[in-house]
Amino acid sequence: MGKKLLINGKHNSFRKTISIDGDKSISIRTLLLGSQAYGKSFIENILLSEDIINSINCLRKLGTKISFNKKICCIHGRGLNSFDFKKNIVLDAGNSGTFARLILGLLVKSPYYIKLIGDKSLSQRDFERVILPLQKVGANFKVNDKKTLPLKIIGSSFTNPIHYSENIGSAQVKSTVMLAALNTPGQTIIKAKKSRDHTENIFKYLSIPIKIKKSRSYDEIKVTGQKSFKSFKYKVPSDPSSCAFFIVLTLLSKNSELKIKDMNVNESRIGYIKILNKMGANIKVKNIKIRHGEKQADIFVKSQSNLKKINCPPTLNSNLIDELLVIFLVAAKANGVSSFSDLGELNKKESPRLKLGSKILNQLGIKTKLTKDSIKIFGNPSINLKKTIDIKDFYKDHRIFMTSVIAAYTFGGNWRINDVNSYKSSFPSFLDTIKKLGFKFELNK
Ligand code: S3P
Repeated sequence: MGKKLLINGKHNSFRKTISIDGDKSISIRTLLLGSQAYGKSFIENILLSEDIINSINCLRKLGTKISFNKKICCIHGRGLNSFDFKKNIVLDAGNSGTFARLILGLLVKSPYYIKLIGDKSLSQRDFERVILPLQKVGANFKVNDKKTLPLKIIGSSFTNPIHYSENIGSAQVKSTVMLAALNTPGQTIIKAKKSRDHTENIFKYLSIPIKIKKSRSYDEIKVTGQKSFKSFKYKVPSDPSSCAFFIVLTLLSKNSELKIKDMNVNESRIGYIKILNKMGANIKVKNIKIRHGEKQADIFVKSQSNLKKINCPPTLNSNLIDELLVIFLVAAKANGVSSFSDLGELNKKESPRLKLGSKILNQLGIKTKLTKDSIKIFGNPSINLKKTIDIKDFYKDHRIFMTSVIAAYTFGGNWRINDVNSYKSSFPSFLDTIKKLGFKFELNK
């Protein structure tokens, strides 16, 4: 079960400037593309969380040399389809859905079967979404009826450029097909429901032939494959999904102010800032710069007591899917009833987050109305807990853990939160940052 985090939640005021760990989505993409480039790529500020360490270990098993000089990660790429590995290797992606799905795109030419495994949470997640397009490309799979891990993939020497409609709004699925396109002759065409576009941006940065036609809810992406590309340098911006915990903590604390430096403010990632500002926050995005095709900026946020309900437009869902749990906390503290719909995907994350998010709010005494893909949250601005709250059985979901910590400091009460190491999959400096802002906690068996 692991240690518990004990919080005797009392409000704390702070005025600070902080830096947050590197972006998880971008870190994984730089590793994967570095492995396919020619020469040494150097990645600064790469996230060093458990998900990334697992990704590095898997790439090393596939024969990619990855070294570190101080904190700079060096990927010794040997070009497209250059993985060099023994028969019967097993790749353990741990908790990382992003790595587990994306790496399959680079294995469509694998000459041997490769086994892909993950932890308990990852082993319950759907892989059919990437198996279907990759089968069309030419890969073969051995997988159980539920289409979950463990699975085995073997490639084919003749891969097909496919036309694929991605209708979930999943950046992971879109990116998996784009990576498969790298090792495929001709033009792969993906009609993808809008989702985060880091893979597109890094393809452009690396001059990989890509054309994108944008329409309101879909993008048409054309990738021409089998074109080698050179190694690169990249500085990873801070992860907006990790920053969201501290933005919400500031918003819901009293008399506090926070500046976060160099956050990734890619439009497809900051839906939550738009929603929080609509709820009455005054979050400012300043000093915008473009680096390697990604927008980054400094973020300024202050405490805000008079927050309003929100009716969250489902078109924004894929732009704030990873931040919904903390947005739910803001809705819990807002005036009125907030509603969120078309959220079936939220139950397919590291845990059934929609269900568990609702359960935690109910533990706090916040009324919710939950369906399989929607939630209404009946806000209570005067919430101030005195009771003991136990948070357990959450599949070690890092975002459930961190959301619970933020809730403890903003709503009061005595909290006992299980699986204290779970945050390390995405945000290893989370508890250090909590300490930096002056909040207290204890660890217990
Ligand atoms: C990610 C895409 C999203 C997101 C995940 C990271 C990515 O998942 O929830 O944390 O890096 O591509 P989906 O692609 O399943 O929407």
